[in-house]
Amino acid sequence: MKKFVIEGGHRLEGEVKISGSKNACLPIMAATLLAPGKHLLHGVPKLGDVYTMIKILRVTGASVEFKDHTLIIDTGEINNPKVPYELVSKMRASFLITGALLGRLGEAYVARPGGCAIGPRPIDEHLHGFEMLGIEIKEEHGYINAQMGNRQLAQNNVEIHLNEQSVTATENILLASATAKGETHIINGAREPHIIELINFLNLAGAEIEIKDDIIVVHKTGDSLHPLEYEISADYIEVGTFMIGTTITSGDVSLIGAKWEDSRALITKLQEMGVEVEKTNNGIRVKTNGSYNSCSIKTAPYPGFPTDLQPQLTSLLALADGTSVVTETMFEQRFNHIPELIRMGAQVEVDGRSAVINGVQKLSGAQVMASDIRGGVALVLAGLVAKGRTEVSRIYHIDRGYEELEVKLETLGAEINRES
Ligand code: EPU
Repeated sequence: MKKFVIEGGHRLEGEVKISGSKNACLPIMAATLLAPGKHLLHGVPKLGDVYTMIKILRVTGASVEFKDHTLIIDTGEINNPKVPYELVSKMRASFLITGALLGRLGEAYVARPGGCAIGPRPIDEHLHGFEMLGIEIKEEHGYINAQMGNRQLAQNNVEIHLNEQSVTATENILLASATAKGETHIINGAREPHIIELINFLNLAGAEIEIKDDIIVVHKTGDSLHPLEYEISADYIEVGTFMIGTTITSGDVSLIGAKWEDSRALITKLQEMGVEVEKTNNGIRVKTNGSYNSCSIKTAPYPGFPTDLQPQLTSLLALADGTSVVTETMFEQRFNHIPELIRMGAQVEVDGRSAVINGVQKLSGAQVMASDIRGGVALVLAGLVAKGRTEVSRIYHIDRGYEELEVKLETLGAEINRES
């Protein structure tokens, strides 16, 4: 099994080009099913989750080629609505294919995704949305059997109210309704930058979706969309990870392609902590001179503080001047990295959904284990500054969400190697 071996104590300095957003790319790949023909997606990150989605698209009948960072997806012939457990169990975002299959074929037979390392991950909001669109849902043998048998129902205008601002439920409903014959209103839908990007992609392909008074309105098109050439934008979670990595190593890094608006929640917190963050003509520059203050955060749907940056920020706060409180409101087990951070010398007490962090002067290198994408990268960031050698094992989790992490960090001056 592969691991990262890090010799701590090197300042990150220079420029890094941010990869395309995983969480924008996955729903957009699914969305290509709604537009029969040949799509070109540029700026696609080479990540484990993208390879899983490629396999899913192929199972449905699409032909897919992946060259450099461009995906060539031909969705002319889509004929299989069944996506097996082996693929869905690899990543929860696989379930996004359900909405796309419903929009294209009017039926989907997709394994129900299970829980995962960050806690239970229900899909009740997805299923509720589908039912409101007139789709009949049955569960059998661990599969969701979704049928739009009577497509007439989708001709009515529907209002779907989400109890939880779920990212993938909002995306699944968008995919299922973008080509419906009636108008769909999604109330309390999520509005993360990757959802706006999915909407942008669908609109360029011929859908008519707008956000009006906080409600996502999917106007009726009743027809399939047309294929596109499209560039995936920079991953704001990777941007945030490098901003935190720069701060923790007292570095000075320019993040090429980073969008200021997408990263506002983190930028504001970093500035509160005394870190210099500035807009440049092609991204964002982060500069620090050593110490920084503690701060408190509570995760929330966009524009709140993203749960996907909470573990990385926890590593940073472990070395802040003073006491910080981090409250995780989204996922029950997103503090999995904390026992590992404690093994590196962090002083953290977890009480239910909150972690109280007393900043220490230094961390010390240790053998630690990644248990999910973001918790795993949080340990890498801690290793960059810890005294001595840190070994992060189970890095296949990190490879699901970060493209060539060690190459990018090495270019910036870190001492990090991938070893077996
Ligand atoms: N929820 C429900 N019912 C549902 C769906 C969600 O109660 O039917 C709850 C969840 O339990 C959670 C909250 O709603 O408390 C938000 O979960 P959400 O559904 O938004 O998460 P997701 O759509 O499964 C996406 C990202 C995650 C990211 C979350 C939150 C993708 C492919 N995944 O997951 O990304 O953490 O939104 O922003 O977009 C990652 O990239 O490492 C990652 C886990």
